[in-house]
Amino acid sequence: MAKILGIGNSLTDHVSIIAHYPQENSEQRAQLVYQQLGGNCTNTLNVLAQCHHHCSLVSTIANDTEGKSLVQALQHRKIDTQHLQTIRQGSTPRSQVWVSEETGSRTIVHYRDLAEVSFEHFANIEIEQFDWLHFEGRNIDQVLSMINIAKCFLTTQPISIEIEKDRAGIEQLFDKASVLFFSQAYAQAKGFDNANLFLSQIHLQAPQAHLFCTWGSEGAYCLAQSATSPVHYQDKQEITVIDTLGAGDTFNAGVIDAMLRGHSPTEALTLAVSLASKKVAQRGIDNLFANVQRTIIAHSRDITPHKVKVITLDQQKLSIACVKMNDSIKAYVNNCPHADVPLDSLYKIEIDPRALTLKCSVHNAFFRVEDGYCVAGPCEKQSLKPVPIIVDDQGWIYLAE
Ligand code: FRU
Repeated sequence: MAKILGIGNSLTDHVSIIAHYPQENSEQRAQLVYQQLGGNCTNTLNVLAQCHHHCSLVSTIANDTEGKSLVQALQHRKIDTQHLQTIRQGSTPRSQVWVSEETGSRTIVHYRDLAEVSFEHFANIEIEQFDWLHFEGRNIDQVLSMINIAKCFLTTQPISIEIEKDRAGIEQLFDKASVLFFSQAYAQAKGFDNANLFLSQIHLQAPQAHLFCTWGSEGAYCLAQSATSPVHYQDKQEITVIDTLGAGDTFNAGVIDAMLRGHSPTEALTLAVSLASKKVAQRGIDNLFANVQRTIIAHSRDITPHKVKVITLDQQKLSIACVKMNDSIKAYVNNCPHADVPLDSLYKIEIDPRALTLKCSVHNAFFRVEDGYCVAGPCEKQSLKPVPIIVDDQGWIYLAE
């Protein structure tokens, strides 16, 4: 799966579940209290790590006991902590969060005295190794410089930015991103109570970007870079709202995951709204996929380099050509786009280990192992269809959807 670098905050959420939102100067008992990992970017990476991506967090961490627990909590969720910036002055940021059982709404009071990530720290990271960079739209001057330097090293890798609050100078980030995530609160702060109008307006400022805007229980909107009008999607399933804390962060992760798996922005919108609904229907962000039964297709030890393994799934009526390249596994639908026949119809699918291509046995079409693109043969410039897969820590390979 992909390597994702997230730049933003990491903190502790002190959550109290209460029967209803309190009146000022009143007293009530909480039903439940707990602490959990929080911060927009951290939450987004938490979900992306659950989607089996390799996630690294760039955030400041305080040198206190809570800071050490935070690092452990990140590592426990398989979020790489090597790029954290430890700061000696200041304490672990925290949010006091009230989740109302009556409505599922979350009310957040945030405290921080810890500095944010510095440009100098960021500039030491080897950016080019990542497939996607995701920034929180905060710490604007520094983030602007980070994005500018990152762009010197990136070729095609997308940069997404979350625009949650109307911070001074935040618009300077708009023309830097390939994907922009807006919150309803930001749109409203800009005087829009309609996401369609809002995104059409933003499109003028950021014509290079795919735009997304979440709109609470109404779902979310997307204005793809090349589209002329926004698309809306709302999950029509009846769900009981349990906990909305981190729903927007989960939506952002859903979009990033879907686009990394080759989905279009509008398909990503649908998948991300469904994922955010799933989050809202449970407490916390962990174990989002606990009840998902995935289909195991093979074990990575069975896929030998320079050899294509064809796996047939009768139930799904799917034949998959699997191949190992530089320790990563590629999977394509075993079908030649030229003749609409399995690649191994006449003979096994051969690999050229030098050119790193695989060959259709029928009419000698050569496809790049890396991305399935046909570099020579009758279907030149067409591509094999990728099969989204997940490889878990034990090496089991699953169908991703
Ligand atoms: C949820 C969240 C919380 C955190 C707060 C910070 O989106 O990231 O985890 O307390 O927002 O603004």
